[in-house]
Amino acid sequence: MKHSFIIALAVLLLSCSGKQAEGLSFDPGAGTPGSLTLPTGRQVNYTAYERLYYVTEVADSTYQFLNVYVPEGATQRSPIFFRTYVGAFMASAAGAPRPGDASGRALAEGCVVVIPGSRGHNSQVDGRFNGRAPAGLLDLKAAVRYLRLFDAVMPGSAERIITDGTSAGGAMSALLGATGNDPVYEPLLDAMGAARQQDHVFASVCYCPIIDIDHADMAYEWLFRQTDSRLAGSDEQKAVAARLADAYPAYLAGLDLRKPDGSVLDGGNMMEYLREILTASAQKAKDAGAVISPELGFSYGGAPAGRGEYLTDLDMTAYLNYVVGRTPLKGVPSFDSKDVLGSRPSPENSEFGDETGSSVNFTAASAAYNGRQLDPGVAERVFMMNPMNFVGRAGADNAPHWYIRHGALDRDTAFPIPVIFATRLQNEGLDVDFDLAWNRPHSGDYALGELFAWVHRITGE
Ligand code: DHB
Repeated sequence: MKHSFIIALAVLLLSCSGKQAEGLSFDPGAGTPGSLTLPTGRQVNYTAYERLYYVTEVADSTYQFLNVYVPEGATQRSPIFFRTYVGAFMASAAGAPRPGDASGRALAEGCVVVIPGSRGHNSQVDGRFNGRAPAGLLDLKAAVRYLRLFDAVMPGSAERIITDGTSAGGAMSALLGATGNDPVYEPLLDAMGAARQQDHVFASVCYCPIIDIDHADMAYEWLFRQTDSRLAGSDEQKAVAARLADAYPAYLAGLDLRKPDGSVLDGGNMMEYLREILTASAQKAKDAGAVISPELGFSYGGAPAGRGEYLTDLDMTAYLNYVVGRTPLKGVPSFDSKDVLGSRPSPENSEFGDETGSSVNFTAASAAYNGRQLDPGVAERVFMMNPMNFVGRAGADNAPHWYIRHGALDRDTAFPIPVIFATRLQNEGLDVDFDLAWNRPHSGDYALGELFAWVHRITGE
């Protein structure tokens, strides 16, 4: 067993020096005291270990390190809450836990909190953009490996890492959860001087993850084609949108998805399935006291004594028009927009560009619009950045536990995107807590009571 040998060697090295292994270091005695006050007024005292570089070949000293915060009372068994602040696929610096989000709450709930830095499409060193995909993900995987390398001497258990992120950070969390130990990243991690450790995680928390971006343009037009906004588009815009929308059902069929009741989920019943999920989400909110206005497209009826009315139906066109009325839609196409219908590059176009700072098309459809074929090197990197490719893949160790939330008002990506990801994970027999969270826009780290009840359930702590 290669890994057990390496672990034994690491422990041996650690017992000699106390803090050095594989050219990386951690000094358990070097922590500094700190404290954080939650909105409730509760104060949590912690020991901080900061600026821990997680690769030996540091290419960007601004981002390639992590910070660790150990709350009073934490043990070797405590879960590690690994919160990435990546947004828009940009670089994200390691920071301290924040009182108002899941990082501060995690500390108060007894988790060791890790806040990693990672490169992104905007990071530059000496004029070179060295954080283009998959660099940000590799940095985060290297951070996970670092935690395993020093697991024996650092409080918290590297076997109980729970990743968390929102939007592009939700995508990073999903990728960390899906791609554990996959050999496709191995040569890249090796070249960076990442620890020769495993990088699978225990659980993944994904708020509005921007995933499946190579199919997200199709999903977007498939869902929103019926809205007034899209119907008011130009003929050329409608033609591009229709080509994308019409291609989505074949993609869905190829995924061979099953709903929780075992029946097929495909393009033929996806809209109905979304209607069911959204109605259930609204009903749950209504039962908890929310007022659900008929203007949103709901029908009511069948009131059992004492429980108020049931939401019996939802007019999806009316509901989608409501969502679009809150936040205008992205353009056509929504993600791979560069040079299509005169659109500017998106963050995703930059993410797949190169060291010179270029931005490129990353879908066959947008490349074809520009009279080109998709660049094979770009396609390989797109593959590495889509967690859908790694669920159930031989050689990838998927996290056993998943918490996925996408707001019912979110239009940054289309509802089927998180639905098919959650379904695919469920179809692999994994533990998935999924919802289109009622009345939530594109946002994260909400309903923290619910999130940490789930954390306690999966960790048994
Ligand atoms: C984010 C939002 C987007 O709409 C997108 O396409 C990519 C990233 C974000 O908020 O991180």
